[in-house]
Amino acid sequence: MKVIVTGSYDESCAVVAGMIRDLVNEKPACKLGLATGGTPVPIYKKLIEMNKAGEVDFSQVHTVNLDEYCGIPGTHDQSYRYFMDTNLFNHINIDKANTYVAKGMGDFEANAAELESKVREGGAADLQLLGIGNNGHIAFNEASDHLISVAHIETLTESTINANARFFEKKEDVPTKAITMGMGDIMAAKCVVLVATGLAKVPAIKGLVMDDVITTQNPSTMLKMHENAVVVIDKELADAVGYKA
Ligand code: PGA
Repeated sequence: MKVIVTGSYDESCAVVAGMIRDLVNEKPACKLGLATGGTPVPIYKKLIEMNKAGEVDFSQVHTVNLDEYCGIPGTHDQSYRYFMDTNLFNHINIDKANTYVAKGMGDFEANAAELESKVREGGAADLQLLGIGNNGHIAFNEASDHLISVAHIETLTESTINANARFFEKKEDVPTKAITMGMGDIMAAKCVVLVATGLAKVPAIKGLVMDDVITTQNPSTMLKMHENAVVVIDKELADAVGYKA
């Protein structure tokens, strides 16, 4: 695992968008693992600009998203399908048939099994983009005494529900369960890029970059075992955790 410290969050997003652009240019039919949440939004904005400027062509790219809430349909404005469509897919030349976000309605176990099959289809993702939860979760693999390797249903922790309440009208509207890739699914990606910003992430990032300990209580720490994982943080966050490049 490698850590990159940038001058600002905007620079972090430019660095990561540049990594994705370069990968797609090198391998036009690559497979991308994508993430939702507040953190990647500016990365997607930059990719849209690059696509419009003719710097990158998504026409052959396949994508699989990390997770989806249980109990809301893809048309719901807080579903991750809706998020991906409105923040990225609707604005680039990707074939939507080549984009996969797990279904949030119907038989959740079957939906998790379908996500697992999409993770495996065509081989490992060339690049998996990640945010990180305040509790160190990656995708919706929550801090716990155990972690699960494959796609599954996860019960969201109070910390995650509180963090995501900002996107809903009221906290009670936040779904309490989600379908998520498992830890093995994420670790199988050829390259993993985790982006974090903001002081709420200090405890999680401290556990990730300041020592060699791996703990299920901070799932992101598993990335320490990944040879090609990159953590991109800005100077403000690096200084707050005491990380020196
Ligand atoms: P955020 O979420 O980007 O909205 O902070 C990250 C996450 O929960 O993985």
